[in-house]
Amino acid sequence: MASSQTTSAIRMSSDLASFRKELRQAKHVVALTGAGVSAESGVPTFRGAGGFWRKWQATDLATPQAFNRNPSLVWEFYHYRREVMLTKKPNNGHIAIAKCEKRFLSEGRKFTVITQNIDELHYTAGSKNIIELHGSLFRVRCTKCGHREVDRSSPICEALKDRGEPDVDVPDARIPVDQLPKCRQPDCGGLVRPDVVWFGEMLDEVVLQKATAELDTCDLCLVVGTSSVVYPAAMFAPELASRGVTVAEFNVEETPASGAFKYYFQGPSGETLPSALAP
Ligand code: OAD
Repeated sequence: MASSQTTSAIRMSSDLASFRKELRQAKHVVALTGAGVSAESGVPTFRGAGGFWRKWQATDLATPQAFNRNPSLVWEFYHYRREVMLTKKPNNGHIAIAKCEKRFLSEGRKFTVITQNIDELHYTAGSKNIIELHGSLFRVRCTKCGHREVDRSSPICEALKDRGEPDVDVPDARIPVDQLPKCRQPDCGGLVRPDVVWFGEMLDEVVLQKATAELDTCDLCLVVGTSSVVYPAAMFAPELASRGVTVAEFNVEETPASGAFKYYFQGPSGETLPSALAP
């Protein structure tokens, strides 16, 4: 089970009974989640195998520069990810988190999910109090007027139908901009983009403020399936730990942040969370 790194600031514990006692006493839990929580639903994580689409890594395409250069290619990539997500279901980890929130609510306690994921699987699982730090695959934002809206259509536009195959040999579709997804605001019609945070972009200020407010008041934090290397999310849990808030990490492997946390539960979160969060 969990180990303690020799360099750890504190000795990590994998004492489930002790963690569960703290969970029973907690007034406000924040679950900070990353791609790993969706791994057992078949959604590829960012780091590690499976992070490629055609010859590109997500980090090559999920940038404003890539979109400006070739919006057709970036839309093909996101169209593919949207279509794939329509076939995925929440796993036992998402469900354990949603059930725990429901129980907390019925007991007059608070539970918040702060996720870096854009896949909406926490919603599908039944979680209600969710902050999406990096946006959502199923929202679009106009590059001209800034209007945001939910768009779950499949395909998102006719020209993207049957496009986006991940096969390396498939040529780019080179769809003209006027056939890519457009803003539906009256008199606008501008090109829309996925409403997600791209590499090199700042997080939405309002979203960040909401997340900070939740972190300021929580008394127990779960860090689930994140490599804890992308800022600002990577600093949230270490900061809580340094203020004395109990942090429990659930991951298949140790991360750069593990040594700062009180508890570490090793294994797929679809297996570790249900027993850790059960009533
Ligand atoms: P990563 O892909 O960086 O890390 C996934 C983490 O999940 C790793 O620490 C794995 O060990 C762990 N993991 C894998 N399978 C797991 C399982 N079944 N159960 C538990 N843990 C598991 O994903 P994130 O940390 O979410 O940002 O990445 C953070 C951000 O980096 C993403 O939101 C994205 C990316 O750049 C943007 O797109 C802005």
